[in-house]
Amino acid sequence: MKNSLDYSPQELQGILQKTTDLVMQQYANIDRQDGFHDYPQAEVASWFDEPLPTEGCDAIALLDYVKQRVLDTATGNLGPNMYAYVMAGGNQISSIADFLTSTINQNATKWHLGPAMTEIEKRVIKWTADMINYTPEAGGVMVSGGSTATLTGLTVARNVFCRKFNVNQQGLFGMKPLTVYCSSETHSSTDKSISLLGIGTKQLRRIATDEQFKIDLQQLREQIEADLAAGFMPFCIVGNAGTVNTGAIDDLAALADIAKQFDMWFHVDGAYGGLVSSLPELKAKYAGMELADSIALDFHKWLYQPFEIGCTLVRNWDVLRESYFKQADYLDTALESKTDRLEFNEHYFQLSRSAKAFKVWMSLKAYGFKQIQAMMKKDLELTRYLEKKIASAPDFELMSQSDLAIACFRYTGELLSAEQVVNINQALIPALEKDGRVFITGTRLRGEFVLRACIINHRKTTDSIDYLLDVIRDVAQKISME
Ligand SMILES: Cc1ncc(COP(=O)(O)O)c(C=O)c1O
Repeated sequence: MKNSLDYSPQELQGILQKTTDLVMQQYANIDRQDGFHDYPQAEVASWFDEPLPTEGCDAIALLDYVKQRVLDTATGNLGPNMYAYVMAGGNQISSIADFLTSTINQNATKWHLGPAMTEIEKRVIKWTADMINYTPEAGGVMVSGGSTATLTGLTVARNVFCRKFNVNQQGLFGMKPLTVYCSSETHSSTDKSISLLGIGTKQLRRIATDEQFKIDLQQLREQIEADLAAGFMPFCIVGNAGTVNTGAIDDLAALADIAKQFDMWFHVDGAYGGLVSSLPELKAKYAGMELADSIALDFHKWLYQPFEIGCTLVRNWDVLRESYFKQADYLDTALESKTDRLEFNEHYFQLSRSAKAFKVWMSLKAYGFKQIQAMMKKDLELTRYLEKKIASAPDFELMSQSDLAIACFRYTGELLSAEQVVNINQALIPALEKDGRVFITGTRLRGEFVLRACIINHRKTTDSIDYLLDVIRDVAQKISME
C-alpha cells in the first residue's frame, strides 16, 4: 500500500494530459453536439453495476472508460441543441476555476480556512449587487442554485419578520398562521421553501395572472385584506423577475409598494431573469427589484456558470447573521488574531462550503462583464428571431410573447384539428428524445400543453434556431405518418 493517495509527479502529469485531451475533445465538435442520447435506463445502469471496488485500477484506463460511458453519453448541455428547462452551457474558464478550487480544497466557511476565497466571495456579492443595481450595502451568500437561494431568502424573511415572536427558539407555535403571496406562475421552489419553513403550502396564496402572466395586483391586495380579516398574518410577497414558463416579470415596483403598505417582506425570485436586468434596455422592466428585502439569483443560468451556483442577496449582512449565527465553542472566533473577518458560517446554514464564488470571479475577470452582457443580448435576439420564424411559419403557432429568452409554441401542421394539435405536441416530447438531435421540453400555459424553448447558451446561432424548427417539423411529420 502507498503512504498517501497521491500519484507520482510523472503519473499525475500523464493523468492531467489525458484529462486535457478529453476536455479538448468535448469542445472539438461542440456546435454539432446532439441534444440527447436515447439509451435505455437499464443499459445506463448496467455500465455502473458492480460491487464496491476494493482494489484500484489504472487511472488512464479509468479515464478511457469515463470518456466512453460518461463524457460521450452526456446530455448535450454544452452545445447549441439544448432548449430544455434552463441549461446555460457553462463556460471554459469557470470549469478550470472549479478544478483549481477543488485542487486547493479551501473551505469557504471560516475566514482563516480560506482567506482569499472568503474575500473573493464578498467581492462577487458586491459585483452582483452592482450588476443588478441593488444596494451596495447588500449582504449575500453563494448557494447551490435558485431553489436554495429562495429557501435562504425566505428563511431570513421568516426569522427577521418574526423576531418579536422569537421563532428561532420558539418555532411557529402559538402564532397566527403566516401567509405568503405569489403569482400562479411562480416556480415550485417557493412552494418547497414554504413547506420546509413550517409555514405550510396551504398558506401560500397563488394569485391569478393577467394576459402577460404577471401577477394581478388587485387580486393580490384583496387576498391580503381578506386574510388579515380572517386572522392570518400576511408576511411575505414573492415577486417574479422572470418566470420559468414564459419569462414574465411582475410589476416589482407595485409589489414593493404593497409589501410596504402591509408591512411585509418582499422577496424577488430572479433565478431565471434577475441577472439580465443588467442590460440597460431591460432595466425599466425590472423597476422595483432594487427595493426587495431579499433576491434569489442563479449564476448557472444567465451568468453561464457550470452547476451548481446561485446567490441570495439581502439588504445587509446583519439579517443573515441574525438568522444563521449559532454559538459553538469549536467555532469560536474569540481567540483568533483579528476581528475584522467576515465568517460565512455565521451567515449561512452550511458549515463546510465549497468556494463557489471563485468560478464567477475568474470568469468575470477573464471575459469581462461586457462580454457576458453581449452573450445575454445575443440570447434575447435569437429568441426574437425564433419567435418571428414561428409566427411566420404556416405549421407552427407562437403561444407566448416574452421579453426574455423563452419561447412557448406548438406544432400545428397544416391541416390538424385542435385535438390532433394537442396530441402531436405531447407526442413530440418522447419522439424528440428518441431522435436526440435537439432537446426540448414542454409546459402548460393556462392548462394548455406547449413546447417551451429556453435560449440561454452563448454557443447558439441563428443556424441552431433554424435547426430546432427543422428537426421538430421532421419528427412531427414522421409521427403524423405513423
Ligand atoms: C424562476 C425560477 N426560480 C427558481 C428556479 C430553480 O432554480 P434551480 O434549478 O437552480 O434550483 C428556476 C429554475 O429554472 C427558475 O426558473
